[in-house]
Amino acid sequence: MGDSRVAALIRETIAPSSKWYCDRPSCDGRPHPGWPHNHARVAQRPPAQFLDGLARVWLMMAGRGFGKTRAGAEWVAHEARSTPNSEWAVVAPTFDDVRGTCFEKESGLLKALDMDRSDDRYNKSSGLIRLNNGAVIVGYSAEAPRKGRGPNLFGMWLDEITQWPSSEMYDNLFPALRKGRAQTVVTTTPAPVPLLTQFTSRDDGSVVTTSGSTFDNAENLTPTAVDDLEKRWGGTRKEKQELYGLLLEDVPSALWSAAKIESTRGPSLTPPG
Ligand SMILES: Nc1ncnc2c1ncn2[C@@H]1O[C@H](COP(=O)(O)OP(=O)(O)O)[C@@H](O)[C@H]1O
Ligand SMILES: [Mg+2]
Ligand SMILES: [Zn+2]
Repeated sequence: MGDSRVAALIRETIAPSSKWYCDRPSCDGRPHPGWPHNHARVAQRPPAQFLDGLARVWLMMAGRGFGKTRAGAEWVAHEARSTPNSEWAVVAPTFDDVRGTCFEKESGLLKALDMDRSDDRYNKSSGLIRLNNGAVIVGYSAEAPRKGRGPNLFGMWLDEITQWPSSEMYDNLFPALRKGRAQTVVTTTPAPVPLLTQFTSRDDGSVVTTSGSTFDNAENLTPTAVDDLEKRWGGTRKEKQELYGLLLEDVPSALWSAAKIESTRGPSLTPPG
């Protein structure tokens, strides 16, 4: 094994990114002894029901800039590093999103794995990262669902599922989840689409949901950008959905929203004309 391979192996084993999860039961992610940089807030760590395997799916539904992509990438990086010869799927709305966001963005996998774009373990054209321990992380586009047939997966990370063209990719990948803990992490801004609501409507304990707002991560975002969003969307349903990460079931154009019907329910209710 050449020197650079050894150096890479050491980096992979003790990468600074392993400093993402800290040892405090509850943490706001600010630096403390042993963790010199901002790291995972408690809401960005896998919840207990997911860690103990009872929940099959961890759904992180939160506002833009909350740190969803970072949390998903760090989870995959951590699991792949600690599971030799395992295979992982990362799915985003388009192939550009997989590479540009899930792999290459500053909150993405390359950073979490302490790699850069020119690392020969990253194959950009096929959207694949091969770790020194034999683990492989494969990127898929939700636009190409047929590619989701075939792998033997230990786990998968699905990013921004409310932007997927359909749920076909999930339908194809789900049966491929059959090794190790076989769990799924979903990170998304909410929207009332079937692929998301089939997770939020499950009440059998198989899905554990965490949530949060853009403002929870304000410390790691450009303050003026957050201000701009708040100015643009303040007081609108966009603010609730995109910044506070709330799932609004009503369709904006619906004449009578559920709340409205509830508040006007009574003997003299006349149908909307
Ligand atoms: N706990 C954290 N500590 C430091 N930086 C963070 C943390 N969480 C997220 N970030 C950074 O904040 C920015 C937005 O995070 P990102 O995961 O892209 O948000 P989202 O996917 O929710 O829109 C990125 O630069 C990311 O690296
Ligand atoms: Mg994101
Ligand atoms: Zn901490």
